[in-house]
Parts: sequence; structure tokens; C-alpha cells
Amino acid sequence: MSRTFKTANIILILLTALFLAGCGKIEQQKDTGKVEEGPAVSVTEAVEPTAVPTEAPKATATPAFTATPTPVPTHETKGLAEYYKDSFPIGVAVPNGVINNKTKYWDNILHNYNQITCENETKPDSVLFQSASAKGLPGTYLEAAIHFDGCKKIVEFCEENDIQMRLHTLVWHSQTPRWFFTEDYTPGGALVSRDVMLKRMENYIKDVLEYFDTNHPGLIYAVDVVNECFDKGEGDTDGVRMRAGDNENLWYTVVGADYYYWAFYFARKYAPNYMTLYYNDYGMTGKYEMVIKNLQKVKDEGLIDGIGMQSHLSVNDRIATSFMLALRSFCNAGYCVQLTELDIGVSDTTEASYNLQARKYKVLFKECQALIEKGYDFRGITLWGVGDGNTWRNNDYPLLFDKNMKPKPAYYGALQEDGILAME
Ligand code: GLA
Repeated sequence: MSRTFKTANIILILLTALFLAGCGKIEQQKDTGKVEEGPAVSVTEAVEPTAVPTEAPKATATPAFTATPTPVPTHETKGLAEYYKDSFPIGVAVPNGVINNKTKYWDNILHNYNQITCENETKPDSVLFQSASAKGLPGTYLEAAIHFDGCKKIVEFCEENDIQMRLHTLVWHSQTPRWFFTEDYTPGGALVSRDVMLKRMENYIKDVLEYFDTNHPGLIYAVDVVNECFDKGEGDTDGVRMRAGDNENLWYTVVGADYYYWAFYFARKYAPNYMTLYYNDYGMTGKYEMVIKNLQKVKDEGLIDGIGMQSHLSVNDRIATSFMLALRSFCNAGYCVQLTELDIGVSDTTEASYNLQARKYKVLFKECQALIEKGYDFRGITLWGVGDGNTWRNNDYPLLFDKNMKPKPAYYGALQEDGILAME
């Protein structure tokens, strides 16, 4: 063996050893990252991970980003509900317009979802009955009249098809008419006192919950008791919402900063056991610590079960890291969690944008499924609309189906098709 050959061999062995030592380090880092993801991590420990723990490394992957092939729909035959049946339920928000169009939507809904939320039809402005409340005075002074004409069709559809519903929502600053807060139940009337409004709140919550329990027992699996009550910018020093844009939050004005506490207090008092009680809000990535802190008393008194993360996201959001951190923090604080209004917006309908959106959906569904495997109390995902033709985010193309209900790459992402990378 020549001297040069021997030297070359020694160099090769040394290089290999150095390379293997390096790999060991990478493995170690990954392991450390995983440990921090476990359910035992407390909220204060749940710091932003420095490495992306569950997916392949982010850097140097640019070529794959541009070349996502159109996936072969091997899972499509199953539908979302069936695909996730061992992990969690999959819901969808529908307005009456969708349920009224059987030809276009029913097959799609029944194929993919096993839970439903009314997009608008169980909100206070649908349920509260102004003329009957005003006409019924003084008898209605502490107990406004309500009716359920708005949600009748959707409720019927759910019962006929054995689909459970999320009741959205009882106490919210928006889509709650001003007349509900006034002396004579007219929009321009003088505002009532705190005590009167607390009585009205109690009766409203009691009447709505009793209506569903009596007439549709077992139908409502969850209730968004309070919606969007904490906001750093529009809240008081604790973050309790005082206004929304130019509008004041009348619950705050009339009842005060503890209005959300009383909403949960009354909801627990009247809800049957099978209804789980949720606080629901958007932008949770930026405010989960404040939400946990503000709800502590409600939680300590056993008045709340879960957190609804609305999840109106965009393809620019960091899902595997920031979003999942907020989600796990809620679980670690003792709540069950559901994504209640999921949509992921994208700026245009080019193939590249749609593929990016598909990857985001895949990452999100995959991460949520992993939560179940790790023992977190994760209760499911509801999409906020059946398709891009029926969404409040008209210019964001945020859903799984296009305007004609044709599946988008996003749908295959949610079904975790192999052709789509689980990479952000
Ligand atoms: C919030 C509410 C939903 C809905 C959307 C916009 O997320 O919780 O009920 O109004 O805004 O459609």
C-alpha cells in the first residue's frame, strides 16, 4: 500500500468520524425539542422552541417548495370525517343558504363533516326577538323574548343526519342588538342598569340552553359561552374588551369588566352535562397568556371546560411553532381545545399559492393529530365555511373547496396526501 494511499485513507476515516459526531448532535437537539412538546410542560415552561422539532429542517428546502405535484387523491374517497374518525371530529360552519341548496352542498357536507356550527343563525341577533320583547313589556323586562326560526332548517338537517352542533354564541359584543340593553327594547332607548342586564343575561342563557335541551336533547355538544372578550388593543388594563373599532362593547359598558365571569356562571348553572362550555376568540397566538390569566377564576370555580381557537389564519402564520405553542399552552393550563373557525387565507389563486396553502393545512392537521397521540385533550377542527364561494373572507380563498365546490390542493393537504409536503 503506497504512503499516499495510506494518508488518503486516514484522512477519509477522520472525516467520517467528524461527520458522525455532527449527526449525533443534530439527533440530540431534535430529542430535546420533542421532550419540551410533551403534555407535562407547564405554561411558563412552554417557551418558543428554537428548532422546528417535528418536521424536516426548514432551510435549504426551496426546490421542493416550487415543485409540489398535483396529488393523487388516494384519501379523498374517505372524506375528512372518516379519515380523522379515530382522532377527532371535523366540523363545518354553514349558513341557511348552504343548507337550502341540496344539490350543490349536501353530499359534500355529509362526506366530510360530522359536526356543524350555524354561521349566523344561533347568534344573539338571530335568536333575540325584538317586537315580542317590546310588546311583552313589562312582563319581558327581565326576560327578553327569543325564537329559533333562523336556525330551524340547519337544526333539522343535523338531526336527520345525526350530526352534532356547536352553539355559537351566547355573549358577544358583536351581532348583539343595542335594543337588548335598553329600558324599552328599542335601539334608541336608555341603557338599563347592571343588575337588570345581569338578569337579562341569566334569562337569555337559561332560555337558549333549555330550549335546545328540551326540544333537541343531545344535539348541542359545545357552547361558545363568550366570544372575543379579551383584546390587548381594545381592552381595559386587564385586556377585557371595552370596544370594537368605533363601537363600544355594551356588555362592558352596562355590566362591567366581569361580564364574562357571569356569562360562564349562568351557563354552568343551566347547561346539561353533555354541553361543554367554551371561551372562543381569534388571534390567540398573540394573547394566550392573557386569556389564561383572565379566565383563571372562571376555571378555578369549574365554570369552563374549553378554549375555542377561532383560527382565522393566513399562509404567513407560523403553524408548527407559534400557533401550536398557543394551543398546547391552553391544554397545559387544563382546557380542552378545539379549532372552531378554521380558514387559511392566501393572496391569489395561482398554483404556487394554492400549494403553499395545502402545505399549511397539512402541517396543521398533522400537528393536531400528533397532539392526540401525545395525550393532549384536543377536541377537533371546524372549518369556517364549505368553500370559497361561501366565506366572509371573500378575497382570501381560505377554504378547502373552490367556488364551484371543486376540491383545492388545500383539501388534499387536510387529508395529508403524500404528494403534499408537511412543511411550511
Ligand atoms: C368571528 C365570529 C364568527 C364570524 C366571523 C366572521 O370569528 O366568531 O361568528 O362572525 O367572525 O364571519
